[in-house]
Amino acid sequence: MRTDVVRLGRLSGERTGEMMQFLSSMHADRCIADADVLVDIAHVLMLDRQKVIEHEITRQLLPALLVLHDEGIPEEVFDDRFEDVHAGIEAMLIESVGVDVGGRMHMGRSRNDEVATCIRIKLRDDLLKQMAALVKVREVLVALAEKHRDTVMPGFTHLQHAQPTTLAHHLLAYEQMYSRDFDRLRDAYTRVNLSPLGAAAFASTGYPINRELTARLLGFDGLVTNTMDAVASRDFALEVLADLSILMANTSRLCEELIIWSTSFVKFVSLDDAFCSTSSIMPQKKNPDTAEIMRAKSGSVFGAYSAAMMTVKGLPMSYNRDLQEFTPNIWRGMHDTKACLRLLIDMLASATFDTERMKQEAAKGFSTATELADTLVRNYGLPFRTAHNIVGRAVQKGDLSLATLDAAAQELGAGLSLTAKGLTQEKIDEALDAVHSVALRRAPGGPAPFATKIALEECRKLLDRDSALVDERLAKLSTAKDELIADARRLVA
Ligand code: ARG
Repeated sequence: MRTDVVRLGRLSGERTGEMMQFLSSMHADRCIADADVLVDIAHVLMLDRQKVIEHEITRQLLPALLVLHDEGIPEEVFDDRFEDVHAGIEAMLIESVGVDVGGRMHMGRSRNDEVATCIRIKLRDDLLKQMAALVKVREVLVALAEKHRDTVMPGFTHLQHAQPTTLAHHLLAYEQMYSRDFDRLRDAYTRVNLSPLGAAAFASTGYPINRELTARLLGFDGLVTNTMDAVASRDFALEVLADLSILMANTSRLCEELIIWSTSFVKFVSLDDAFCSTSSIMPQKKNPDTAEIMRAKSGSVFGAYSAAMMTVKGLPMSYNRDLQEFTPNIWRGMHDTKACLRLLIDMLASATFDTERMKQEAAKGFSTATELADTLVRNYGLPFRTAHNIVGRAVQKGDLSLATLDAAAQELGAGLSLTAKGLTQEKIDEALDAVHSVALRRAPGGPAPFATKIALEECRKLLDRDSALVDERLAKLSTAKDELIADARRLVA
């Protein structure tokens, strides 16, 4: 097979293997090879319908392309000497049906619009898979939250015991983050699923092509209208990488917590053995390696995003070969994120939470002090700042007994006796009770089991909506693909 079909007219001289490997995008093109065959089929169908090529040519081109679709792309196509999969497939076609037929496929297009189209096709599929995985992660979090509405645990700020909350409240915080991650990817999809095809090199073509037709055949929701923009822009992918970076930042935080929670001094959670490793020297060790790798992978995804951003920042219009270096970052970011989400689903679902331990810790570190201050305000008419200072001084003294609180009130010069105001040890103990403190926090989104019940209902509603949206988009793409192939088969039958 000739490997120089694109070069042989204009350029002469052999290139070294090292040079060809350097210039080739073949490795990353494996991700878009199947998409390229679909793009070729849609393009040929359109050329045929617009009478840009004769029917007889179509009847020879399409069977060769359908073989690639049905049987897969032969390994010879992925030779670095072709530069990329687009040239490789064209060379293969010319080899199998002759240049008089195969040499007509590339009419009215360029590899510039071709590659942009392929990237968008692959990316939209990846996006939907990512969104489906996110729905599953959220479902696990919701199921766990449902189970742990009453599981009181300490909440932290600055990693210090702050106020009691529930495990459900904590897990639903992550569910909310992932819900926004889903929304971002959903919105990005609307800008990804647009067709650049027909832009050709950048100035479109003088052939009477039909861009709307190829867009429809390939399941796109519309066009990237300006043909220079269509080949030059990669912001649709930058946006996805930015969204994935945020998603992975959220995942990294969750993993960090699971790692802290599984230490021997916190002991809130025990991760399933399958997600842990041991030490080659310390026989007692059970290390949360999966969560650690996930925490690290977030860095790889941010790296993919920033490498992509750096690649495009100085590019003049329109296509520049730099864009070839941009593309692998998309697949890297996607791949790492997908791998993490998939494992995260099972890692969370199989985790065992030590609810007794959580309860023990819930009221430690004077974590119910806020509620005590609030009680002094609510029941005994103190200004909040005064109550805050009295309780703070009592904490400094080491306990929250009635005597210590009274001493603190005296010391702060408030000149008041809390005992005289009617404060009793019983009232103090009630305020300091973690379960009581949580139950009072019934504001929307608060940790009270009552508020959690409402939050869970809302989560479930959105989950149903989001999972239906993914199914609907998947079905639409799959129907478009089936119809494209059926169209092609009908034409050659
Ligand atoms: N392999 C190239 C890429 O990934 C395809 C487009 C090549 N275009 C060109 N003018 N050399 O960007």
